[in-house]
Amino acid sequence: MSIFPDFSGKFITFEGIEGVGKSTNITFVAELLQQKGVEVLLTREPGGTPMGEELRRILLAHHTEEVLPETETLLLFAGRAQHVHNLIAPALRAGKCVLCDRFTDATYAYQGGGRGISTTFISTLEQMVQGDLRPDLTLLFDLPVDIGLQRAKSRTANSSVDRFEAEELTFFMRVRKQYLARAKIASARYKIIDASQPLAEVQSNLRQLLV
Ligand code: TMP
Repeated sequence: MSIFPDFSGKFITFEGIEGVGKSTNITFVAELLQQKGVEVLLTREPGGTPMGEELRRILLAHHTEEVLPETETLLLFAGRAQHVHNLIAPALRAGKCVLCDRFTDATYAYQGGGRGISTTFISTLEQMVQGDLRPDLTLLFDLPVDIGLQRAKSRTANSSVDRFEAEELTFFMRVRKQYLARAKIASARYKIIDASQPLAEVQSNLRQLLV
């Protein structure tokens, strides 16, 4: 049975480390829900709005000066403020189902787990920027880090490795650990999908959950 009887006004986020197949699966879920007659808005972070996409470019680019984890976190929340106010909240109010490729759980995982930013710093910004808005469901695509990075590497040319993809294995191990810790705490909102399975299995899991 489907996790929601009605997907209208539901906010669903897709999370996981690089190489877990989020992008393929978010498109699959969008099509699945559209076939059920659900009106879907597909979006992503960093990004989603014109200013958010500009901030994404800055966040992913390599810089000659040191980028502080605090700067990174503030830029992510700057884009998130635009995204929530201009796109996500209006779509939810209009009854659409919003599917977002990464959201604030990624900040807890990457900036918190990965870079060592405190949970208080992140949760304060979360409250200020989002108010009460939280995802109704978070799909965490989980995979051992070495397999994920191998998959990610095989689709990216070395020259186009972004500032996050250039991080070491241990960084992504901290990110994954933080995602799994959050999924344990908020187990009602999180569903962990085993992304090491063949794609057909992953999509069969998604179908069971959502249709
Ligand atoms: P993407 O490759 O899934 O589009 O995401 C781009 C990168 O942004 C990815 O390496 C994770 C990173 N990121 C954060 O570090 N914190 C965040 O809050 C978000 C939304 C993304």
